[in-house]
Amino acid sequence: MVQDEFWQGPLEAAVQALRSRLPGRPSVGIVLGSGLGAYADRAKASATIPYREIPGFPHCSVEGHAGRLVLTERAGVCIAILQGRVHRYEGYTLEMVTRPVRVLAGLGVTTLIVTCAAGALDEAQPGACMLIEDHLNLMGDNPLIGPAPGGGWFGRFVEMAEAYDPVLLALAEQVARTAGIPMTRGVLAAVAGPTYETRAEAAMLGRLGAQAVSMSTVPEVMAARALGLRVLGLALITNRSGAPLDRQIGHRQVLAMAASRAETVGVWLDGVLDGLSA
Ligand code: HPA
Repeated sequence: MVQDEFWQGPLEAAVQALRSRLPGRPSVGIVLGSGLGAYADRAKASATIPYREIPGFPHCSVEGHAGRLVLTERAGVCIAILQGRVHRYEGYTLEMVTRPVRVLAGLGVTTLIVTCAAGALDEAQPGACMLIEDHLNLMGDNPLIGPAPGGGWFGRFVEMAEAYDPVLLALAEQVARTAGIPMTRGVLAAVAGPTYETRAEAAMLGRLGAQAVSMSTVPEVMAARALGLRVLGLALITNRSGAPLDRQIGHRQVLAMAASRAETVGVWLDGVLDGLSA
């Protein structure tokens, strides 16, 4: 690992601590979003480490985010699963939000698969799966503010034109087709939350070109790209953004909808992992 201001401190401390506790070196990382944690529960884990035991890691406060790093293996590939994430709306800085992903990079992860619950801005129904093809960062913040990897100006101005790897997108679509899982491609808008969108905001995001909206994921993608990771993203539609609050929206409903699709997402993830090692 390059010893510069970016890595020194909490990132290095977490990487060192994990190196001494993990029985393998992960090359693939997976972030499981709201309600999707079951995939990690089912995985044959060679290590399970609560975030609170990792120096400098944030603590998950939101229901549906277990807050564990699970090490597993599939088809000879060592995989680190982040079971749960933290969000800007919990009061964390984006530096803190993206720290676990940066630590995965420090451990040797080169491919990152991110998943999240999202609200639909188009006609997609709850339960639909959308591969993230591009994003709109509307959080009003950026995780790359601060020290840059490599020090100085190197690594400062990171290209985002192809943040979502086209080869991984094609693989992900192929896997979905083979498994009979309907999947669209679309643009994910990221907002800070924690309020859900008003009708006017949902209409605005749709006019801006997004098909789904989430309060997570995009900062992790920006941090991962800054470190050269290949990124694949899946948004699970759990509700219609801007729909009346009554039956449709609410964190419990988001969790329940995500959980009901967790098995399907798991089948897809397994297929993608098999495709990565093929
Ligand atoms: N808006 C923003 N984030 C979300 C939503 C939503 O409707 N659903 C799940 N995450």
